[in-house]
Amino acid sequence: MKQILIQRAGKPEVLTMQETPAHVPSNGQVRIKVEVCGINFADILGRMGIYPDAPPIPYVPGYEVAGVVDMVGQGVTGLEIGDPVFALTQFGGYSNSVCVPYKQVFKRPTWMSAQDAAALPVNYLTAYIMLVVMGALHGTDKVLIHGAAGGVGLAALDICKIMGAETFGTASPSKHPFLQERGLTHAIDYRNLDYARVVQDITDGRGVNLILDPLGGVNWMKNYNLLRPTGRVVYFGASSVATGKRRSLLATAKLLFSIPRFSPLQLMNDNRAVMGVNIGHLWGEAESLGRWMEQIVAWYDDALFRPQIDKVFSFDEATEAHHYIQDRKNIGKVLLRA
Ligand SMILES: NC(=O)c1ccc[n+]([C@@H]2O[C@H](COP(=O)([O-])OP(=O)(O)OC[C@H]3O[C@@H](n4cnc5c(N)ncnc54)[C@H](OP(=O)(O)O)[C@@H]3O)[C@@H](O)[C@H]2O)c1
Repeated sequence: MKQILIQRAGKPEVLTMQETPAHVPSNGQVRIKVEVCGINFADILGRMGIYPDAPPIPYVPGYEVAGVVDMVGQGVTGLEIGDPVFALTQFGGYSNSVCVPYKQVFKRPTWMSAQDAAALPVNYLTAYIMLVVMGALHGTDKVLIHGAAGGVGLAALDICKIMGAETFGTASPSKHPFLQERGLTHAIDYRNLDYARVVQDITDGRGVNLILDPLGGVNWMKNYNLLRPTGRVVYFGASSVATGKRRSLLATAKLLFSIPRFSPLQLMNDNRAVMGVNIGHLWGEAESLGRWMEQIVAWYDDALFRPQIDKVFSFDEATEAHHYIQDRKNIGKVLLRA
């Protein structure tokens, strides 16, 4: 099988292709012949050597794939050879063949393309957990989505639209026409303006009900302070640490020094909630993940959304694909064709 390996920490050029014999699924696993796999920002942080959850380098990154089951291990129920599927993988997704515990595998309706399916697991589950499961999203909420044109950001926008919420989204200005067309209520140019000031101006100083923060650093407190009473902020990333294409000790130190402390008394008096989500720590919740994915697929079936696929790179172009994302060129999902 063909795989993309992070050989050492560094720039996108450290990604290399390797050929190894395909694995045989062990008990409770199925093997998927992969058509496409998703690229996530976590893969980029892993490649830079600053992703705390990553296995020791060298390793094969990748959290999600779509394809067809081509081998079934013992003890697997509900899946057969030939089934079109998509899955969450705990690393190893940048591969044209991958073995996955069957509980992390979702059946793909025949009318769902492999590309659409590969764009669902990480982006839509993360957005769903933040907004619906933990964020108690309501149709009257005002929601601030950072990185609105990224994979998770667009998934969050889709879910907010389905629920009827008013959306504020930060993104590079070139991406605003697309976002407005897709239904974002207020596009904010965070590269040139102070997003907190813009949000305060639009809301007459009242702030918003729900904020999704993948940025970290100084944004942790900045976002907390943008919540109106009963507001919730969900922290789910630290992309501000990726200042270049290689690890920066200064950026890491800045991030660590800006970690806020929250006191229960302060939270009570502010009437605010602070939450965190890391889908990579939910492997033990496969049943819940399956239930949440059922809702996402039901919305897909009802044509309430379609994931925005920006670009599909070939395996040979994995390096270019990582550059593309870090150069902030993507609107929506970037995939690798196996
Ligand atoms: N905790 C979890 O479970 C979980 C799951 C998935 C993702 N995440 C986090 O969510 C964030 C978005 O992930 P994603 O996969 O949706 O991203 P993505 O699709 O790769 O989007 C990347 C976009 O993020 C923006 N961006 C912000 N800071 C950046 C930086 N330092 N370098 C390059 N781009 C930057 C850029 O958009 P603009 O041009 O608009 O700035 C860029 O186009 C990341 O922080 C990721 O780690 C967390």
